[in-house]
Amino acid sequence: MAEEGGNGVTAATMVVIREYDPKTDGERVEQVESSCEVGPNGELSLYTDLLGDPICRVRNSPAYLMLVAEVVKYGVDGTEKTTEIVGMIRGCIKTVTCGSKFSRSKTCETPKPLPVYTKLAYILGLRVSPFHRRMGIGLKLVSGMEKWFGDNGAEYSYIATDDANEPSVSLFTGKCGYSKFRNPSVLVHPVFAHRLHVSKSVTIVNLTPSEAESIYRHRFSTTEFFPRDIDSVLTNHLNLGTFLAVPRGYIWAGPDKFLSAPPENWAIMSVWNCKDVFKLEVKGASRLRKGFAKTTRVLDRVFPFLRLPSLPKIFSPFGLHMLYGLGGSGQLYTRFAKALFGFAHNLAKDWKCGVVATEVSSEDPLKLAIPHWKVLSFTDLWCIKRLGEDYSDGSVGDWRKSQPGLSIFVDPREF
Ligand SMILES: CC(C)(COP(=O)(O)OP(=O)(O)OC[C@H]1O[C@@H](n2cnc3c(N)ncnc32)[C@H](O)[C@@H]1OP(=O)(O)O)[C@@H](O)C(=O)NCCC(=O)NCCS
Repeated sequence: MAEEGGNGVTAATMVVIREYDPKTDGERVEQVESSCEVGPNGELSLYTDLLGDPICRVRNSPAYLMLVAEVVKYGVDGTEKTTEIVGMIRGCIKTVTCGSKFSRSKTCETPKPLPVYTKLAYILGLRVSPFHRRMGIGLKLVSGMEKWFGDNGAEYSYIATDDANEPSVSLFTGKCGYSKFRNPSVLVHPVFAHRLHVSKSVTIVNLTPSEAESIYRHRFSTTEFFPRDIDSVLTNHLNLGTFLAVPRGYIWAGPDKFLSAPPENWAIMSVWNCKDVFKLEVKGASRLRKGFAKTTRVLDRVFPFLRLPSLPKIFSPFGLHMLYGLGGSGQLYTRFAKALFGFAHNLAKDWKCGVVATEVSSEDPLKLAIPHWKVLSFTDLWCIKRLGEDYSDGSVGDWRKSQPGLSIFVDPREF
């Protein structure tokens, strides 16, 4: 795939948008990646290390593509002289829930809500080298990716960015036709050197992928962004497990029994190992700040019984676990979710992660219940675009105009 144009560059250079080639581009792409901050460039900036696999953040999706922007320089005789990769973009497509409709039943049964699906594309990992910005390269990469989305039948495309990332927000909403859609909260908690307490009145059951699938499909399939291929998420090697918190004394006898007669309060959560996909690093911290963080860690390690809220090693590359598929039922279910959180924290400690993170809808009651540090957490901005006008709106209507639900299902493959 190659698109040509010379926007902002001299007559002897050209920007080519083409598919990423792992044989020749890997190192050059990582160089660009390491020169790019993610989000606004303030005193502290967040950088990603893709561990030698630039396509890793989309690789686990059912259909994916990575494009690179290459500046090609020609000599006076018209022969190609040098090439330089200056930007890249990743995208993937999958089928997700965009709303629900009620089943029509001929019997007297109460109608059940059924999911309405749409083919959704997602843009992520858009980067342009700091030396080549404002030359139209970001725009070209997005257009190239949207063409692939359209050719593959995607109906909507969306992106997630930081609300304060002005270049990204104005590129997508100003130039590419996206509109602001949802504002989920990314809740981040450091992994302490001590273990968190998990309530003894709660039993945690480790579900098999097929048990987890039954519960998720039954309870969450009408939740916005629920992936229709949830089974491939749950059986992926990066999925460390799905855990169900039930009252102590409850006997787990399989998903059918559980769904027909659940306990009064329960919660569920899955853990995804992002640590083997990418690492993050906060750069730009002063020596004083780094020294303070180190001191808290040392104290926490030496005196774990004091339960000191220590800062993890975020100023050198660190990994994370993502908690997803959080939900449950009952008046006390947030208490059960907290127990699951403590369990997940301790698992992340065993895996030597720096932080655990989760992403929940801005309306979700879990937002208040899930422990997190405000200083590490942030609000995400999801922007959406409808890619074509020639397909039916179905029973949901135009998804862009729908009201947000109480929760969203954040796919860990794209975190
Ligand atoms: C966001 C980013 C990809 C933009 O790339 P780019 O090649 O500079 O973008 P373009 O030149 O194609 O810009 C297209 C339009 O986007 C908007 N835009 C881009 N950079 C902007 C900036 N710094 N401030 C305000 N608007 C900006 C403008 O509307 C611009 O059109 P204009 O130049 O005619 O005014 C680049 O800044 C980057 O890599 N940032 C760091 C990584 C990141 O934040 N990625 C986005 C995560 S979703």
